[in-house]
Amino acid sequence: MTSEPVAPARAATPRIETTGDAAAVAACCSAVYGSPLAELLVGPSLHPGGLESTRMLLAAARLPCGARLLDAGCGLGTSARLAAAEFGLRVEAVDASAAIVARAVARDTAGEVVWSRADLLALPAADGTFDGVLSECVLSTTARGHALAELRRVLRDGGTLALSDVVTSGAAPLAIADRLLGAALCIGDAWLPGEIEDQLAEAGFTIERRWDRSETVVELVDRIESRVRLALAVARGSSLDLAGLAELAGLGSLASGGPDAARHLADDVRAAVRRGEIGYVAVIARAR
Ligand SMILES: C[S@@+](CC[C@H](N)C(=O)[O-])C[C@H]1O[C@@H](n2cnc3c(N)ncnc32)[C@H](O)[C@@H]1O
Repeated sequence: MTSEPVAPARAATPRIETTGDAAAVAACCSAVYGSPLAELLVGPSLHPGGLESTRMLLAAARLPCGARLLDAGCGLGTSARLAAAEFGLRVEAVDASAAIVARAVARDTAGEVVWSRADLLALPAADGTFDGVLSECVLSTTARGHALAELRRVLRDGGTLALSDVVTSGAAPLAIADRLLGAALCIGDAWLPGEIEDQLAEAGFTIERRWDRSETVVELVDRIESRVRLALAVARGSSLDLAGLAELAGLGSLASGGPDAARHLADDVRAAVRRGEIGYVAVIARAR
């Protein structure tokens, strides 16, 4: 795959807001995950369930050692490195954000993965290049019909799509879509009921397996909440200007809201998961 030069890492300045417009949601997502502060809160795996979810998904994909895998929307590259190191796959990884790709490259000390800055909507790869595609918590942040058609194009016939993403039962989660956690959890444009089945079928995939991982959203919210509390406690007990730091990282709303705002937001998400309004699913699909 041809690659664009990777620019040095630089803190992005995210606008923490989402709209129904797919481009704005994608830009917001890249900006949020481009911030080192976001990694501090979420961890190096930028999806619910972390590496355990990735291992489960790759094991279910059953790609043979040496198979070519594309990590589509790789974030910091944690999953791509795992796929190469633990599953023996030949991995290429792309992300729309040059700053994020630069950070992924810096972590790949083993040089096991080929990294590129590329948009899923126009992948710089020939038809049928890959045996498998991994896409975790990405399609909910971009124009997914178009992206799925591209993923199908670069997969060989019979290739495997291993997908995990945020689902919603309807409109309720939109109440938190314009707030930090909503953006960080890809809730702003989560998949609606039936949409995964319809869009995958339309793009030329047959779903082989689908399972629920909603409990990982609660785990992630718990972790983010406790890290926000810790950061705020440290800032209070020291001369650390957390609000200033957060502002610099473009995440001002995080610090300005204080512990109560963080708790209310986390409570909102946990309750939505309990009511079945927000969930997380894993899917294995075959390219027809
Ligand atoms: C929630 S993060 C998930 C990252 C990674 N898959 C993981 O699980 O650690 C979503 C990532 O998708 C990337 N992204 C969003 N839209 C994209 C697009 N159209 N093309 C390529 N990358 C995209 C963002 O820049 C961000 O790094």
